[in-house]
Amino acid sequence: MTQSTSNAAATSAVSGASAKRGFWSSRMAFVLAATGSAVGLGNIWKFPYITGENGGGAFVLVYLLCIAVVGIPIMMAEVMIGRRGGRSPINSMRILAERDRLSSRWKWLAGVGVLASFLILSFYSVIGGWAVSYVGTAASGQLSGQSAEVIGAIFSGLLGDPGKLLIWHSLFMALTMLVVARGLRGGLERAVTILMPALFVLLLLLVGYAMTTGHFGQAASFLFRPDFSSLTTEAVLVALGHAFFTLSLGMGVMMAYGSYLNKNVSIAKTSLLVSLMDTGVALLAGLAIFPIVFANGLEPGAGPGLIFQTLPLAFGQMPLGSLFGTLFFVLLVFAAWTSAISLLEPLVEWLEEQKGMNRLVSTLGAGSLCWLLGIASILSLNEWSGFAPLGMFAAFEGKTVFDLLDYLTANILLPLGGLLVAVFVGWFMARQALENELSLRGPWFGLWYGVLRYVTPVAVAIVFIYNLV
Ligand code: PFF
Repeated sequence: MTQSTSNAAATSAVSGASAKRGFWSSRMAFVLAATGSAVGLGNIWKFPYITGENGGGAFVLVYLLCIAVVGIPIMMAEVMIGRRGGRSPINSMRILAERDRLSSRWKWLAGVGVLASFLILSFYSVIGGWAVSYVGTAASGQLSGQSAEVIGAIFSGLLGDPGKLLIWHSLFMALTMLVVARGLRGGLERAVTILMPALFVLLLLLVGYAMTTGHFGQAASFLFRPDFSSLTTEAVLVALGHAFFTLSLGMGVMMAYGSYLNKNVSIAKTSLLVSLMDTGVALLAGLAIFPIVFANGLEPGAGPGLIFQTLPLAFGQMPLGSLFGTLFFVLLVFAAWTSAISLLEPLVEWLEEQKGMNRLVSTLGAGSLCWLLGIASILSLNEWSGFAPLGMFAAFEGKTVFDLLDYLTANILLPLGGLLVAVFVGWFMARQALENELSLRGPWFGLWYGVLRYVTPVAVAIVFIYNLV
């Protein structure tokens, strides 16, 4: 069967409403788009710096474990909910709940997710803006041959200037809205097909460079030799939250993308592939960055500025550094961009379906609100840097608006969303429906089902409770 006839067959197999929405043009398009959502600032910016802050190897091991026992099963569950429901996440949840005669309140599970994606996008766009601004910084040659101090000063100069940050944040948000407004195939598919492979090649080149710094072994042992004495319970929560964040789970994004997926595509294989690519990119980013950190005597726990202070050093010293540096930041922007698009998509879809707005109006509405909230994150990097809105609670002491949004989403809302997805699919949906949808052979279905019912919820709940207590 050709792709188009199989698409047509799949299209007629689902409800009329979803048939009108269209499908990905191929399995590969879904894989790339889902990978585009998963691979983003989380892999290249956040993973290295939280690994640095949390002591390295043991943290990485816990993170990998979370990907395997929590992330992959939940990704399969989310894609399945989306494909079965065939609508925006909130409505897909409602349809599935009604089909199994469950309370339609389950739809608010996806509602929490959509709220989380809105909150994330507000600060994600600010960081995306940093990446956009570094394209210009690298291209102008300002980073060439500079010392760590000068490069640090360039970064602090950016963070200290709310006007500049606002311009870059606005530009990034506008780029995101532009693609979302054009719909699924118009921009997104084409963009990810070129950008994701290019990002991969460039990362490999950077790892190649990192190998020449003489500190590659030290970095590899920092990343892969676990030292459990440096592992805190907070670090376990951070690793779990990051597993959700990096795989774009717990907020309906994979449901939204799954809703455009053909019936004949294997959910298990594609989810596995997306998770492996995402993990691969994060580890490669670590292997590219930490040798440079160690070679230049920088601090692995430097926090959110880590890649903006380390990579420019490497680019400043390597032949054709300005070119590579510019390319790297361009690709970082693209990685962030394909993720940001996916963050806006569920809310826009819901506004279209529920409020009857057209795509342009819903994109403009949702995007502008998010942009507005982003301003609070911008100010918390400078004017409001001493302002901790929930500072009266010990757990939030010293956390700025930006820190709070990050903490609340990655460490609370996403794991909570994921937990509820696992409970809904594992304990409430009819088993037969799951078997039909996943069509897994041999022991694989039982394994997935068992993990989703018992291991995933228990793991998430334990981490939660432990941290609360
Ligand atoms: N997974 C993206 C990253 O690692 O940068 C961030 C993200 C995108 C999180 C989409 C959540 C999401 F729904």
